[in-house]
Amino acid sequence: MAKGNAMIAALDIGTKSVTTLIAQKSDDGTFSIIGKGVADNNNGLIAGDVVDVQATAAAIRDSVAEAEQISSKRIKKVYVGISGEGVRSINSHGVIQVRGQEVAKTDMNRVIEQAKIITLPDDREIISVEIGKYTVDGKAGIVNPIGMACRRLEVDVLIITMPKTMFRNLYKAVEDAGFFVNGVVVSAIASSWAVLEDDEKNIGVAMVDIGDGVADIAIYQNGAPVYVAVMPMGGKFITDDISKVMKIPPAEAERVKCKYGNVRPEYVSDSEVFDTVVIGTNAPTTKKVKQLATVITPRIEEILIEVKKKLMESQKENIIQSDIVLTGGSAQLKNIQCVAEDTLEQTVRIGIPKIDEPSIGLNDVLTSPGFATAVGIIRHFSCRKQMEIAKRNGWLARVADIFRNFFE
Ligand SMILES: Nc1ncnc2c1ncn2[C@@H]1O[C@H](COP(=O)(O)OP(=O)(O)OP(=O)(O)O)[C@@H](O)[C@H]1O
Ligand SMILES: [Mg+2]
Repeated sequence: MAKGNAMIAALDIGTKSVTTLIAQKSDDGTFSIIGKGVADNNNGLIAGDVVDVQATAAAIRDSVAEAEQISSKRIKKVYVGISGEGVRSINSHGVIQVRGQEVAKTDMNRVIEQAKIITLPDDREIISVEIGKYTVDGKAGIVNPIGMACRRLEVDVLIITMPKTMFRNLYKAVEDAGFFVNGVVVSAIASSWAVLEDDEKNIGVAMVDIGDGVADIAIYQNGAPVYVAVMPMGGKFITDDISKVMKIPPAEAERVKCKYGNVRPEYVSDSEVFDTVVIGTNAPTTKKVKQLATVITPRIEEILIEVKKKLMESQKENIIQSDIVLTGGSAQLKNIQCVAEDTLEQTVRIGIPKIDEPSIGLNDVLTSPGFATAVGIIRHFSCRKQMEIAKRNGWLARVADIFRNFFE
């Protein structure tokens, strides 16, 4: 188990469920998960956006309470994953003249501040600035330019924005639940921290987290994110199709999808059946697994076609050199990898969240793709550098500003 007392709590506020993870982290940034809570988010979110603050706050409280009970710890501060179809990313570039002989920390801060100067509509807020590589007097690809002789310093950044109202609702749900937002990270980036390897991020990779209400997409090149998008599509669409076409109640449609769902009908024999009930009457009935697969398949194909379009729209598709990494709860659909390879016309692997150390009694659950965002939030904020960035960004002050601007 990781030595040290520092605790870190992650909140993944998803359309289907709110997941809390409590981790104990060591000084070297490794961590051990000691608590987990999952609570149904009953209609609190639509397509990743909070539409019912009180319902979401209740789910947050339930989820945290479960994690606290398992870990025997109490938490007050949380790190939160942010998603929603209003999330956008903008590539920006900063250039400054270095004042001294060599690059100092202040120059790095200055060039980043310069890159952050963009025109934003009044209703949008910068959620995070992901820092890419530096260019020192024309020499590109520098990770840490401090101490280098330099006259002209440049940096590439990815600025992530979302509507202020959406951010405010999410923040309010966490606050109403009784917790303090210590830092936020966009879910697409959090999931990438959980499932991508550094080598993949360097040579160029796309991560797609298909959840319940949204699909979060991130593209990385040279070790840094260069594109983030959120599509309002996910497993909920599939459950709704099953319910409507097969006349099964929604909760039952969700159960049979997870238990018998398959996206290769041709692999399923005609004789495979499952017991279920009829919508309205709840009368018992038997249905074919093959029929279930024929309902699910076109919808997952549609979602993947939209993912493909989004990757093309990003104009970064040509930099994706390694496998596309699929994760999120819906990545557990049987045979989704084959269908994704056919649709995306690229090799695909399923991303399982990476855990540093065995987490007693929790490992089985935590190695499922549905935990990618929550594990990624822990991983992201366990990294000391990210902690410093969160502190430097002064979350409290920034949030106060957002609210002040919002109410003005
Ligand atoms: N074994 C499974 N087979 C198919 N689908 C599954 C399976 N397990 C979970 N899912 C689906 O995964 C989805 C939930 O995934 P996840 O927990 O990543 O979503 P979320 O984070 O709550 O929502 P979002 O990120 O979209 O806001 C649900 O639609 C659920 O039905
Ligand atoms: Mg999610």
